[in-house]
Amino acid sequence: MLTGKTAIVTGGAGDLGSAMARQLAANGAHVVIWDILPQAEAAAAIERVRAHDPQVEYAEVDVRDRAAVDSAIADLPQLDIVCSNAGIVDAQPFLELSGENWRNHLDINLTGCFNVCQAAARVMVAEGTAGRLILTSSWVAQIPWPEITAYTVSKAGVNMLVKQMARELSPLGILVNAVAPGIVKAGLAGRQLREEPQYAARVAKAIPLGEPGTPEEIAAAVVYLAGPQTAYMTGSILTLDGGCSLFQFDS
Ligand SMILES: NC(=O)c1ccc[n+]([C@@H]2O[C@H](COP(=O)([O-])OP(=O)(O)OC[C@H]3O[C@@H](n4cnc5c(N)ncnc54)[C@H](O)[C@@H]3O)[C@@H](O)[C@H]2O)c1
Repeated sequence: MLTGKTAIVTGGAGDLGSAMARQLAANGAHVVIWDILPQAEAAAAIERVRAHDPQVEYAEVDVRDRAAVDSAIADLPQLDIVCSNAGIVDAQPFLELSGENWRNHLDINLTGCFNVCQAAARVMVAEGTAGRLILTSSWVAQIPWPEITAYTVSKAGVNMLVKQMARELSPLGILVNAVAPGIVKAGLAGRQLREEPQYAARVAKAIPLGEPGTPEEIAAAVVYLAGPQTAYMTGSILTLDGGCSLFQFDS
């Protein structure tokens, strides 16, 4: 389905990003993984992609660093799909939220998407590529969740960035959409489930479908957003949250 396409996945050494990289490669794409981690620490993720794409590439790119993003994109002979997925969460109650924590979330989760998507879109336009930009949002972009103000605000910004880019880039043939995962038992939420008992207690009551999601479910949605079935879709936020955003209250 994606044969002949080249895809960047930012945060591609992480749990959701590496699943995206694997499934894009399994569907025929050539994958370029970007992450802030040194390559040695991403070795396992890279090897799992190599099973599908023997030419898989890795670059250590901090999405906050615009010069590094521009230069890594300039190194690519072709670019069709971008998964702007790198992100962090560091929970702090609002009254204790530090300026540094707030800035880190906005810099990585939101400005990182701006850097990567604008740099990629400029190249796509210059080359006449009908590209796809796929951002990783979150179900909490629209719904407040305790102790993660900086995160929810950054993801709300991601949703508007998706819509704004979709509006301006559609005449140029570039489609922009997002996946909005719910609570996944891996990656950022996986860590919170293990390390923050109060988070695990809240999660136990929050998911109408009863279980956290999996990285593979999110990655399958990304493949859908990268493929021919979504050629008429732009500016959409595709939510996979087990019903979390339906507000399940204790009953
Ligand atoms: N896990 C969940 O439940 C969940 C739910 C909703 C949304 N998300 C989103 O999914 C995305 C991936 O998160 P994950 O859960 O796989 O976590 P993860 O920690 O496993 O992966 C995140 C990756 O981003 C990388 N990264 C961090 N800062 C970076 C930077 N400045 N430049 C480049 N790479 C950087 C990390 O090294 C890591 O490999 C994030 O945007 C997150 O907000 C996750």
